[in-house]
Amino acid sequence: RGAVPAGHVLRPLELTDYRKGYTECLANLTVVGEVTEQMFADSFEEMRRAGGYFVVVVEDLGAQRVVATGTLVVEQKFLRGCGRVGHIEDIVVAKGQEGKGLGKTIIASLLAVAESVGCYKSILDCDESNVRFYEKCGLVRKGVQMALYM
Ligand code: ACO
Repeated sequence: RGAVPAGHVLRPLELTDYRKGYTECLANLTVVGEVTEQMFADSFEEMRRAGGYFVVVVEDLGAQRVVATGTLVVEQKFLRGCGRVGHIEDIVVAKGQEGKGLGKTIIASLLAVAESVGCYKSILDCDESNVRFYEKCGLVRKGVQMALYM
């Protein structure tokens, strides 16, 4: 859902995206650390096995590069009549590709997935500097994030 620029495609993450700069794209969000192709494949398989992980990417088909990505993790609950909550994670547009609507497209696609799998809400944590972006994607400010790093 949502328009991508000509020559681009929005689709689920594939194993071959490791070679299309997936981790370089992620690095525009935070430290990726060393991730070998085998580690990437193992995590990909773990997410597939666990279920409830939806990782989408936008690929620049000409360059064969991943230029944007985002993840939805679906949490099954007992609350709300055994409802589901969508957790939006790791939204990132590659360096130099910001401001073209790719971020908004990624969020729209993840919200569409959340709705289609029956989530009653979707939530995320972000920096103050990104609040306006998420408001433009239709989200509203709610609650406070707390963390303990292990
Ligand atoms: N502040 C204010 N407005 C913004 C911002 C911002 N930081 N970023 C985008 N917008 C606005 C745009 O102007 C646009 O407005 P319009 O619809 O009126 O034209 C709208 O939001 C959509 O912008 P996009 O072009 O879709 O934004 P972009 O593709 O640049 O993606 C993103 C935004 C994801 C924040 C990108 O800049 C990025 O990757 N930043 C670095 C990584 C990061 O901080 N990711 C978010 C982490 S939070 C999480 O993952 C849950």
